[in-house]
Amino acid sequence: MTEKKYQIAVFAGDGVGSEIIAEALKILDVIADKKNIPMSLKEGDIGGSAYDRAGVPLPDETLELALQSDAVLLGAVGGPKWEGLDYSVRPERALLGLREKLGLYANLRPVVAFDELLAASPLKKDIVRGIDILILRELTGDVYFGRPRGVTREPDGRRTGVNTMIYTEEEIRRIAVAAFELARKRKKNLVSVDKANVLETTELWRDVVTEAGRRYPDVALGHMYVDNCAMQLIRKPSQFDVIVTTNLFGDILSDEAAMLTGSIGMLPSASLGDGRALYEPIHGSAPDIAGKNIANPLATILSAAMMLRHSLERPAEADLIEKAVTGVLQDGVRTKDIYSRGTKLVGTREMGDAVAAKLKTFLA
Ligand code: IPM
Ligand code: MG
Repeated sequence: MTEKKYQIAVFAGDGVGSEIIAEALKILDVIADKKNIPMSLKEGDIGGSAYDRAGVPLPDETLELALQSDAVLLGAVGGPKWEGLDYSVRPERALLGLREKLGLYANLRPVVAFDELLAASPLKKDIVRGIDILILRELTGDVYFGRPRGVTREPDGRRTGVNTMIYTEEEIRRIAVAAFELARKRKKNLVSVDKANVLETTELWRDVVTEAGRRYPDVALGHMYVDNCAMQLIRKPSQFDVIVTTNLFGDILSDEAAMLTGSIGMLPSASLGDGRALYEPIHGSAPDIAGKNIANPLATILSAAMMLRHSLERPAEADLIEKAVTGVLQDGVRTKDIYSRGTKLVGTREMGDAVAAKLKTFLA
């Protein structure tokens, strides 16, 4: 039997996208070569650069390539150049389109505080030391996709905006099951975040998560209102292991949690559906620093590690990449966003080289 060749779609996108993707590919190259992982990479365009070429942020060829692949590795989309565009063709629409068309309902956003970077956090070291939180954000429902939506105008000219917060119990159950499964492999502590004191949709959320939990007696389940969760993340982040929440709440809480670690440039993500997956750093396209070789490629490199773990059935190799990243941080190598006095400032490419070199020492 011939071994399966993994099809990977690579969409660099806009801004720093191509620079950080180049470093992740460097690392995948090392792993694929030394560990004999058969993979075929195909590039596609997305976001503002796709709009410039094709008039849409998610061209059909790009979507087709994503649908045919085992995984998508994405850089970032967007930038000031496209901010004035109609909402329907804004670069961000490409992300929403991919999430919807690939059915990527489970968005994993791990928030890990590296000991070496504690000084970069705006919070006191004692509060952030050791935090290892997995935010599981539902990604294909809620106000992001609910209908009706839009802005209507009365004959007298007055406008009304509407978006719909909506979840079916099936949608809630599948993300809840994913959350319990993930919690089971971690510290078995799950907090479900809702606004059940005010919003019926999330009252249903709470009910269905609780029901799903009956099959996971080994996982401790707690519930928290989203406003309280926002506060607890700053007050005592170490209380969290896995957090599961709705699309909109997850969007907001994951940005908040990212800051605990000091730099959003460190955080990877995975968006999973049935048999499909997309991996991307959670930071944006950072147009202000694009093309200057100063962006931090670690979030993208860590996203590639998540791809090895979740889509390529190579958890040991994923661990090695994560270990290599920790190793270069221990060596004091830093990009500008995580630099502190006494460490060694390097550029995007040099950071990628350092991780690749470290990785090779583990693979020799
Ligand atoms: C994210 C981003 C996106 C979202 C935007 C760019 C559409 O903020 O992935 O968190 O709101 O989901
Ligand atoms: Mg966001």
